[in-house]
Amino acid sequence: MRKKIVAGNWKMNLNRDNAIQLFNDLETKTFPNEVNVIIAPPSIYLDSFSKAVNIKIASQDVSSNENGAFTGEFSSEMLRSLKLKYSIVGHSERRQYHNESDDLIFLKAKRLIQQNISPIFCCGESLEERKSKNQFNIVKSQLSHILNKLKKSEFEKIVIAYEPVWAIGTGLTAEPTDAQNMHSFLRELVSDSYGPEIAENTSIIYGGSCKPNNSKELFSMKDIDGGLIGGASLDSNSFESIINSF
Ligand code: PGA
Repeated sequence: MRKKIVAGNWKMNLNRDNAIQLFNDLETKTFPNEVNVIIAPPSIYLDSFSKAVNIKIASQDVSSNENGAFTGEFSSEMLRSLKLKYSIVGHSERRQYHNESDDLIFLKAKRLIQQNISPIFCCGESLEERKSKNQFNIVKSQLSHILNKLKKSEFEKIVIAYEPVWAIGTGLTAEPTDAQNMHSFLRELVSDSYGPEIAENTSIIYGGSCKPNNSKELFSMKDIDGGLIGGASLDSNSFESIINSF
C-alpha cells in the first residue's frame, strides 16, 4: 500500500518566530492516520523542529557532496544526524535559479538514499513545453536520470512530485484529469524499470497551486497520492484543510 503524503514547502518564507508559531499550530492538530504530513522549513530552522511528533520534517535541498570545503552547503549526513526522513530534490526553482542539472539531482538523490532519507524528486514541464505538447517527453527525460541508475531497493525510497512549472505559485492548476494522465504515465515508467509492484507502491504527489478549493478533486484521482504545497502551506488552516481533503 503506498503512502498518502501532503508536504508543505515553506521555501524562503517566515522569520523564526512566525516559523515556530506555524509549526506549533500544526503540531497541535490531529491529522488522518493514513496521511504522512511533512513540512520543509528553511534549512536554518531545521534543528528547531527535529523533535516533531505529528509532522515529519524535510529539507528543501541537500549538497551532492559528501563533506568538506563547500561553503554554504549541508550534507545528507547532517540531515541524518537531525533524524530527517525526507528531502526535496530537483525543485524547479533550484533547476531554474541554480542551474541544477538532471545529473546533479541524481547525485543528490543518491546521497540521501545512502543516509536512508527519502528524496522527494520533483519533475515537471514549463508552459512552452506543454504548449508544444512535449510534457510527456520532458518528464520522461527528467525521470530517466534516476530510473535504472538506482537499484530497486534504492528506488523504493523515492517519492515523485509532479509539479508543472507553469502552475507553481501562479494560481493556475493542472486540470485533475491532466494531472492524473501524467501521474499514470509516471507510474508506467516506474513499472517499465522496476516492475508493477514497485510502481504500485511509489507515492506520486502533485504540486502547483494546490489549494483547499482544488485539493479534494486532485486527490480523488487514482494515481495522485497527495500534494507538495507551497503558498497554501504557510497558513495552518489552509494546510490542514488540504490534508483533510483525502
Ligand atoms: P505553490 O508551490 O503551491 O505555491 O504553487 C508548490 C511548490 O513549488 O512546491
